[in-house]
Amino acid sequence: MQPRKLILDCDPGHDDAVAILLALASPAELELLGITCVAGNVPLSLTSRNALKICELAGRSDVGVYAGADRPMVRSLVTAEAVHGVSGLDLPDERCLPEPTMRLRDQHAVDFIIDTLLAHPAGAVTVCPIGPLTNIALAMRRAPEIVPKIREIVLMGGAAINPGNVTPVAEFNIYVDPHAADVVFRSGVPLTMMGLDVTHQVLVTPERIETIRSCGGQTARVVADFLSFYCRYDRSRYGTDGGPLHDPCVIAHLVDPALFACRHVNVQIEIASPLTLGQTVADWWQATEAQANCHVAYAVDDEAFFSQLTQKLSTLP
Ligand code: BDR
Ligand code: CA
Repeated sequence: MQPRKLILDCDPGHDDAVAILLALASPAELELLGITCVAGNVPLSLTSRNALKICELAGRSDVGVYAGADRPMVRSLVTAEAVHGVSGLDLPDERCLPEPTMRLRDQHAVDFIIDTLLAHPAGAVTVCPIGPLTNIALAMRRAPEIVPKIREIVLMGGAAINPGNVTPVAEFNIYVDPHAADVVFRSGVPLTMMGLDVTHQVLVTPERIETIRSCGGQTARVVADFLSFYCRYDRSRYGTDGGPLHDPCVIAHLVDPALFACRHVNVQIEIASPLTLGQTVADWWQATEAQANCHVAYAVDDEAFFSQLTQKLSTLP
């Protein structure tokens, strides 16, 4: 089978970084057409620089990295330095990755998304947002003809049954740009949502970090360092043995959908209420006649997930 073509839209972020590396480590299953960056965990100048650093870490300076929207469509930017550090990719002991030598591509991320989708036949390209949905919504608004071209959107964001992680009901990526999420969830494109319902079942424990550290080369060791830094916040917040590893769930699902169980339901985004802004309102029991628009992941084989991640990372330099 041909590898599945995808655009990865991200805001690195430690878990975004692991998602990028998992995609790069899966050439038999995935063909990464480009990485597009958005403001989210940290401002755009840092998310885009971090994406370059990650490509270089993996020895993949051939991958196109594009900077996109520097703020949400309507609201002001909310960031997450408490989780990811001021750089968005802080390492333990105040270490940091070397500054990248590769450069961002000149094209704006939104133009890259539009041009790439228009250059391919309908149904050929999967779009994978793992940050706020600003770039994707702007592309849909600017060029509505791309909408029927998208094979599927597999995204990290939202929570159907779980509580929120940034407000009592909202997950970070959707909360940061709920208006963009609303455009995407109304678009009619087939959606698969890897939200907190599953990502909070994929916990990075100290043992799992050490397994990754010893599985391969320098990249795997840096991933172990990323995860050590990244988990400290959620571990103390949730009182668990490990922090949830959100964004790689999207890539893991593309590589092996059997790892996850999903339910096809209607999901709508709250954009009006100050109390519940950014909530992904999922009609889990078909309380309404609203048509199902989203495959919501609700269960995952976490052992198999970490085996896949470790095995893939072991192939990187
Ligand atoms: C999401 O928020 C970000 O901090 C992570 O990178 C992930 O995409 C989890 O809510
Ligand atoms: Ca992210």
